[in-house]
Amino acid sequence: MKTRQIAGNDVSRIGLGCMNLSYGYGPGPDRGYGIRLLNEALDEGYTFMDTAALYGFGENEKLVGAAIGHRRDEFFLASKCGLRRNNEGVREINGRPDVIRETCEQSLSRLGVDVIDLYYLHRMDPNVPIEESVGALAELKAEGKIKNIGLSEVSGEIVRRAHATHPIAAVQTEYSLWTRNPEIAVLDTCKELGIAFVAFSPVGRKFLTGTLQDVTHFHEDDIRVTMPRFQPETYEKNLELLEEYANLAEETGCSMAQLALAWLLQKDDHIIPIPGTTVIEHMKENAAADAVTISDDVMLCLENLINQNTVVGGRYDERAQGTVFTEEFA
Ligand SMILES: NC(=O)c1ccc[n+]([C@@H]2O[C@H](COP(=O)([O-])OP(=O)(O)OC[C@H]3O[C@@H](n4cnc5c(N)ncnc54)[C@H](OP(=O)(O)O)[C@@H]3O)[C@@H](O)[C@H]2O)c1
Repeated sequence: MKTRQIAGNDVSRIGLGCMNLSYGYGPGPDRGYGIRLLNEALDEGYTFMDTAALYGFGENEKLVGAAIGHRRDEFFLASKCGLRRNNEGVREINGRPDVIRETCEQSLSRLGVDVIDLYYLHRMDPNVPIEESVGALAELKAEGKIKNIGLSEVSGEIVRRAHATHPIAAVQTEYSLWTRNPEIAVLDTCKELGIAFVAFSPVGRKFLTGTLQDVTHFHEDDIRVTMPRFQPETYEKNLELLEEYANLAEETGCSMAQLALAWLLQKDDHIIPIPGTTVIEHMKENAAADAVTISDDVMLCLENLINQNTVVGGRYDERAQGTVFTEEFA
């Protein structure tokens, strides 16, 4: 697979979101299948793996470590802190330096590695200045426990403040045809500062693959249950956008999932999508988006077809929206 850079390191320009193997859209596949998927992903050319302390409350880091720890020199490993299950078993945002330090030790131990290549602050803690959280990550870097610092779901202004404290290597935020808010500011900020932009949920949490028709039977642990866009009445309207989108995929000679990924790759060369999947065939299909080229005409049609003016419903409910510090379209 072709590569892109994160702070001077070459990584496959499509990374693998590992979350789905333990968390997010239901419980994930059995452990043996997850181990197989991760190894086949390395064989397929993915060299950028994304996990977090939050995913499966540690289980996802354990899975990644157990599955591909023995192939550590083959991939760039990203994990995240700042969002965790606390001692009372409650999910919390906590960006205090002592908690970041404690979480990093836990991540290293669960992953079974000496160093994490990229460690993100998963969510900014509104009670802790970003400079303090980034300062704690800079100390971990100085101690050799992490190699690079990242941020997730923050505005351009927060990126600038953080970057002034210590160089930021990557910003990870939701970005796809149907979630365009990074285009307001943070994409340009990253470009200007030489920061990689890692696009999560790049196939729109399955919407853009065209394979999700029924949103009335999600598993109770599926995070889409509360998302306004996935409510039956809004989703039905959004599905109408896919009719023309399917034609554009056919015209390009690729699948709908591949069109969504190739669109991101073609938007700019600092963008690195990280699709997540629980299915080996989907992982391979997504990797093959590396070879897709979209014509200028189709790029223009896509811009106009699926965007903040045509999509119905917000990406998060009120509670989740309150935990992010991104610029958002009204
Ligand atoms: N920083 C953050 O706050 C944050 C938040 C969310 C996610 N993430 C990271 O970003 C990664 C990706 O995001 P995501 O999983 O939320 O969204 P996504 O990659 O846009 O979509 C994942 C969904 O699409 C389906 N899918 C993927 N490829 C497919 C294909 N080729 N054909 C059909 N269905 C396909 C998957 O189902 P199947 O399992 O059936 O393939 C899954 O339901 C995660 O794994 C995680 O590492 C980060």
